[in-house]
Amino acid sequence: MSQRYVRIAGWGKYLPERIMPNSELAELVDTSDEWIRARTGIGERRIAAPEETTCSLSVQAARAALDKAQVRAEDLDLIIVATCTPDYANMPATASLVQHALGATHAGAFDLNAVCSGFLYGLATGSQFIISGMYKSVLVVGAEVFTRILDWQDRSTCVLFGDGAGAVVLQPTTTPGGLLSFVLGSDGSGACSLYVPAGGSRRPTSAETVAERAHYVKMDGRDVFRFATRIVPESVLQALEAADLTTKDIDLLIPHQANVRIIDAAARRLKLPESAVFANVEKYGNTSAASIPVALCEALEEGLIKTDSTVVMSGFGAGLSWGTAVWKWQGDESQQSAVSSELIADT
Ligand code: ACO
Repeated sequence: MSQRYVRIAGWGKYLPERIMPNSELAELVDTSDEWIRARTGIGERRIAAPEETTCSLSVQAARAALDKAQVRAEDLDLIIVATCTPDYANMPATASLVQHALGATHAGAFDLNAVCSGFLYGLATGSQFIISGMYKSVLVVGAEVFTRILDWQDRSTCVLFGDGAGAVVLQPTTTPGGLLSFVLGSDGSGACSLYVPAGGSRRPTSAETVAERAHYVKMDGRDVFRFATRIVPESVLQALEAADLTTKDIDLLIPHQANVRIIDAAARRLKLPESAVFANVEKYGNTSAASIPVALCEALEEGLIKTDSTVVMSGFGAGLSWGTAVWKWQGDESQQSAVSSELIADT
């Protein structure tokens, strides 16, 4: 039996049409385009239309990924939706809504919440089902309508986030590469550095919680900043070591897109040239679980990832949580061996 590897067979993204530039935020809160650009690198973000939801964004990104992979929705075995802004607060899972909307009649579906690290957790989880031989086609989505949990009166958070979705289809292959290593981590002692105080079982929704605006994101920006600038380089180095690689082997680092200063600090610590670090935070702000898959799609569209490229994806966020994956890109479908096709074909 040939060795089985995981491969990203398709990828897709969806960003809502409406663009909100910094200048518009300056009309809502005491801020300015200069402050936001200088402190975060963000120029604009996308805002979901009233009828759009995390499910609808996910479905758009998923359809693009399925098309690219030439996989029919009914052939999916599993759908993982990484999100912290599900359509419904408690139940059902957004992944079930996505499964139904896609017509993925043979797929299991579940949500995964590791906030901004969610896509990395989903990628690592989905890959295990492929590498183990349990499943042949797994859809991993990172999607958020984050702007719905923002307090538009709080300038310290509302300028940072945006909406979007990205998706990948994972399949088995005999071509070596794919997921070489990953690191997943958590430090719950920092839970209140970035959280939504009410609406969960700890503090159920009441007239009081609504009056207190306790259903919106609260953040200690400095805490999260310190954590992020430390954990991104640390977890990248750990993941590289686990793959028996060094920073010199990185062709492209795709960090979570939260703040260009965090990205630059990580690049400096890892001694990476600017050309080896992907950034699109200027256009979308922080889209939480969607940020890395959207960035991956854009890096691919821009031709920054080629066959045999070593791509390192690194996320961090509320939890506090982090996740890093080292991925060796295997190239396109036409290069798939007959044995790989056999792994995918139904027997
Ligand atoms: N416009 C103008 N002034 C502002 C704004 C704003 N939007 N926000 C804060 N300020 C003010 C502050 O009140 C403060 O004023 P003061 O000195 O009079 O008190 C001053 O600007 C400086 O504030 P700092 O918090 O020190 O600014 P800093 O340079 O640290 O930048 C920022 C703040 C951008 C939030 C930064 O700390 C950061 O990026 N932190 C990480 C946040 C992050 O990435 N979170 C997401 C994690 S991913 C997830 O899981 C969702």
